[in-house]
Amino acid sequence: MDFMTLLRRDHETVAALFHQIQRGFDQPETPERQRLFRQLKHELELHAALEDAHVYRLFQQAESTRNEAHNALEAHRQIKTLLDELEAALAYDHWWVSKFQALHKVVETHIAAEEQEMFRKTDRVMTRQEAEELGVAVENGKRALRRNAPTADEGTAEET
Ligand SMILES: [Fe+2]
Ligand SMILES: [Fe+2]
Repeated sequence: MDFMTLLRRDHETVAALFHQIQRGFDQPETPERQRLFRQLKHELELHAALEDAHVYRLFQQAESTRNEAHNALEAHRQIKTLLDELEAALAYDHWWVSKFQALHKVVETHIAAEEQEMFRKTDRVMTRQEAEELGVAVENGKRALRRNAPTADEGTAEET
């Protein structure tokens, strides 16, 4: 499977988690919301780490995709900062919700840029065969990271 198909699947997972958390906005804090947020943070960080390590590197090397790669790295930094702020927040309140909405917007814009701009230029950077091989590298990288990093649900090992 090529790397774009894999990454798009992650994007769908992340979009679903955003949606689930937002559905609870009219309710008070619940352990379920905390669990979903931890899972979202874990998924986003894992996904970003894989893109940073395996994918953007290649797009950075080509003149015609260097800008996209640069913007994507910048978006990852922004996402990481927002996630850390949300995690460190002491209360689940109006501030948290608006910060979360800001995060959602940044992530959505970033995902759209990847799928509609960066990925469309893949053939300028690599062959179809290389895109498939990169998929294997991303998949293996994900497995390795899941083994080494604590998962969103502490204690329970996530299946890979
Ligand atoms: Fe990304
Ligand atoms: Fe992505």
